[in-house]
Amino acid sequence: MSNYHIKGLEEYFNVYRKSVRYPEKFWEEVAEEHFVWRKKWDKVLDWNFEKPEVRWFEGAKLNITENCIDRHLLTNGEKTAILFEPNNPEDEAEHISYNQLSERVNAFANVLKSQGVGKGDRVCIYLPMIPELAISLLACARIGAIHSVVFAGFSSSALAMRINDSECKVLVTSDGSYRGAKTIDLKGIVDEALENTPSISSVLVVKRIESQINMEAGRDHWLQPLLDNASNKCEAETMDAEDPLFILYTSGSTGMPKGMVHSTAGYMVNTAYTFKNVFQYRNDDVFWCTADIGWITGHSYIVYGPLANGATTVMFEGVPSYPDFGRFWEIVEKHKVNQFYTAPTAIRALAKEKLDYVEKYDLSSLKVLGSVGEPINEEAWHWYNDNVGKKKSPIVDTWWQTETGAIMISPIPFSTPTKPTYATLPMPGIQPALMDEEGKEIEGNQVDGRLCIKFPWPSMARTIWGNHKRYKETYFSAYEGKYFTGDGALRDEVGYYRITGRVDDVIIVSGHNLGTAPIEDAVNEHPAVAESAIVGFPHDIKGNALYGYVILKETGEGRDQNNLRKEINQIITEHIGPIAKLDKIQFTSGLPKTRSGKIMRRILRKIASNDTSNLGDTSTLLNPEIVEEIMKEVL
Ligand code: PRX
Repeated sequence: MSNYHIKGLEEYFNVYRKSVRYPEKFWEEVAEEHFVWRKKWDKVLDWNFEKPEVRWFEGAKLNITENCIDRHLLTNGEKTAILFEPNNPEDEAEHISYNQLSERVNAFANVLKSQGVGKGDRVCIYLPMIPELAISLLACARIGAIHSVVFAGFSSSALAMRINDSECKVLVTSDGSYRGAKTIDLKGIVDEALENTPSISSVLVVKRIESQINMEAGRDHWLQPLLDNASNKCEAETMDAEDPLFILYTSGSTGMPKGMVHSTAGYMVNTAYTFKNVFQYRNDDVFWCTADIGWITGHSYIVYGPLANGATTVMFEGVPSYPDFGRFWEIVEKHKVNQFYTAPTAIRALAKEKLDYVEKYDLSSLKVLGSVGEPINEEAWHWYNDNVGKKKSPIVDTWWQTETGAIMISPIPFSTPTKPTYATLPMPGIQPALMDEEGKEIEGNQVDGRLCIKFPWPSMARTIWGNHKRYKETYFSAYEGKYFTGDGALRDEVGYYRITGRVDDVIIVSGHNLGTAPIEDAVNEHPAVAESAIVGFPHDIKGNALYGYVILKETGEGRDQNNLRKEINQIITEHIGPIAKLDKIQFTSGLPKTRSGKIMRRILRKIASNDTSNLGDTSTLLNPEIVEEIMKEVL
């Protein structure tokens, strides 16, 4: 029996049982046999979900880049590590071998050092999907700096907020980025953000689009000349197992985005393990995850998981619709991609287009298809299975979160029989539990409840940067002694899990987590807005879209409503980014509230979803008459 590479359903059950009975032994074997350590651990696991405190492989010393790069050099130095496919299909793809990756990461690490970055310092990375993005993560890890990647679609104030929260010292960005036929002035956004970020002492700028940009003397430096002068050898810093590897922000229901802190050793072991099993990666395979490295999926399954396995990982700069809707499939054919991992929103968007776009290309290299980020609906699942996988490639519907670091529930292809819309079974080492409203665990099958995890796993986030109290309140307070995911789930008659969606005020739009409170705060900034409430409603392509109910001040009444809508969305774009724009904005004179003044979002959600047959008891509302008014005007 191999712990590390599961083949067959029986083996999965054996490994799973062992991982629950002897979790420490299970993870210790995985860690021991498949990674290089400068020093082994003194203790595999120490944990307490009350505090909460979790430590894996305590006492171990390592550097993750030695596992992701150095150890492959002897045997696989010329193998392609990163296969970069540019935005423009006319431009040549770049094959970066492990040898080249090593040189580029080391040189970049030396440049960071020359800017005064050392172990424990935070580096913010705000880059498009170009090789320097992956390289900059690894360069930070090489010298023990903590990276904080901010998705390059976020606005300047969202960027500034994240930089300030973790007091980043250096920012890595580019002169601009390509997005399909458009170019984006990334440096302009950065300049605006940096007006309010006192911790940043220097900015490293990658040249990508060759545009005229402002370079502030003393602060901004072109990266290339610094790299040219840097040595491509850089000793890897010795890190403790529990040293933070990175911070990645994710939206919560309320307040500031949460800077989830991930550790070094546990994260490495868990992402590498899941990569190997969920994608059944074999030596010469080409793996492609279409996510952006600005999200956890890109961190774990473009960079760390694949590289820790010595894999070839594709990085795609562009979008699925440029130059046409066949782009994904063209790339699959061109690079003979074996495992393809994407989001349901992309599948739904492509399924709307002519089948020609898929049928034109040879997709016979594909062995495994993945889905992540939101529930995949049955129609999308079948379209993916029939037209992309030709009913031959199993679909792995992988459930996990920024906080979990690695895939938690997923089929193991060729072992676990798949079932549309089900993420199926927990990965080895993962112990899910469904909880009822009273906080009791629901045993047995054919049940549904709130999804918790009752035992630690190596890649779980250890804290929220600068706010351990919030970490405890958000994840460990709802159900005693358990990690609460924020998701609802059901377990079918054989024990398969199906994730039903968020049970809090987080809305997943096109696979991106959006908290309602920060968007409402942005809307309320408009001088004519008195109050607002935002809910999600079902959308064909995005999964969910945003619906805003807005109460205007007297000054707003009588104004052109379409102009107001545009202005409100403009403010959201400035505060958060275009991904948080509202699809529908309904002006109303009031919002349904409980007697304690809390907005009844449940009612608003139903109205926005055109599902008003069962609104429940509205008589206890402070203002039940408003429900009628809102229903009359619904968009
Ligand atoms: O609601 C679940 C949904 O995405 C949330 C986590 O979002 P984020 O931290 O951005 O990470 C996304 C990529 C790992 C979860 O709480 N989610 C993620 N994967 C699935 C899913 N919902 C249903 N099925 C999935 N496969």
